[in-house]
Amino acid sequence: MDHFEYHSGLLHAEGVSLVDIAQRFGTPTYVYSAATLTRHYRVFDQALAGSDHDICFAVKANGNIGVLGLLADLGSGFDIVSVGELERVITAGGDPAKVVFSGVGKRRDEIRRALEVGIACFNVESEAELERIDAVAQDMGCSAPVSLRVNPDVDAGTHPYISTGLKENKFGIAIERAEALYARAAEMAGVNPVGVDCHIGSQLTTLSPFRDAVTRILALVDRLAEHGIALEHIDVGGGLGVRYRDENPPSPAEYADAVAELISGRDLKLIFEPGRVLAANAGVLITRVELLKPGAAADDKHFAVVDAAMNDLIRPALYDGWHRIVPVAEQAAASSQKRRWDVVGPICETGDFLGLGRELSLAPDDLLAVRSAGAYGFTMASNYNARPRPAEVIVVDDTVHEVRARESVADLMRGERRLPFS
Ligand code: LLP
Repeated sequence: MDHFEYHSGLLHAEGVSLVDIAQRFGTPTYVYSAATLTRHYRVFDQALAGSDHDICFAVKANGNIGVLGLLADLGSGFDIVSVGELERVITAGGDPAKVVFSGVGKRRDEIRRALEVGIACFNVESEAELERIDAVAQDMGCSAPVSLRVNPDVDAGTHPYISTGLKENKFGIAIERAEALYARAAEMAGVNPVGVDCHIGSQLTTLSPFRDAVTRILALVDRLAEHGIALEHIDVGGGLGVRYRDENPPSPAEYADAVAELISGRDLKLIFEPGRVLAANAGVLITRVELLKPGAAADDKHFAVVDAAMNDLIRPALYDGWHRIVPVAEQAAASSQKRRWDVVGPICETGDFLGLGRELSLAPDDLLAVRSAGAYGFTMASNYNARPRPAEVIVVDDTVHEVRARESVADLMRGERRLPFS
């Protein structure tokens, strides 16, 4: 459920019309709904009420400080993959003691900073990384809490670019090798194995890959216990899918129940790292039609060039991601003016589109909302074609808060200079 609805013919975020937001902040602009984010977090949290758990929002999905602060206030922890994300969490008021640090290539300075602020756990992805964390921690005279990210070798059945739990993927430690590595970790003075971690992919729409992964990991937990290595938590990663078009993913409650059921009777804390399921449908990208390039014949291609592009939202270009595109001013369902438009950006790439063949009735200057853009939208935006990145705002009831000002062209050139002799 989300809080983007039409009132008096205009699409609103909670109590604010997107027309007003476009007028005030320009376009393209990312608009997030606080009530939607809050609801998504609470539904997840309440589903886990019977189990000891932490929800660690995956910052890569949406790293805006306003968004992170809102989640921190709700009690959320965070899953980070860089020191940059860690500093964002701290600036937003997040609790470092509820931070887990994932990612295949943590640098020494990143490990050091994470130890300094006292994060909950490092999710270790290789033997070399375990040795590195051990060395940094020993150097600092402390011991680092670690989980090994094991690769359970299950096929999540998602887009190959966002599938991570197969042997052929670069992530994690092969499950057969994990026992030996835990035994090594238990001997190291600078690390303390406290948990086990996995993440098998993103936009998963069925429960079975999660069930398979958790079952395999619990078997590992049991084998480790037999060897005197008792773990405190199991981190099942993120990955629960959302509806972009017609997908029917399990609800967070069904998902949480399934995982909690598998671990019931064990003294294990559960950690989740959801990103998309909390944030995707809590955000839209508003964009304005710049101009239309209708084809000569009805069955020719018709292009609507809008002011948002692949640099602002790369999911359609990178993963064939499908986002609903709706007019901000409601259109009659049977409008005779409708055509199938390719909604494209102004960038010099054929892959620069937000949606293809969308049935809409369009005129220049119309406003459109690209739905489900709250996760992996702004965080993946770039400055390609020297395009400043959009503004970001959060709507709370009837109030709009600008949580990131639109970049200026001067921002883009900050730190650059001409050669001294030119
Ligand atoms: N934990 C780890 C270790 C991850 O690698 C990810 C996402 C998550 C948690 C959060 O997964 P989620 O709950 O959001 O599925 N840019 C792609 C998605 C990449 C996901 C990468 N890892 C997209 O736009 O579809």
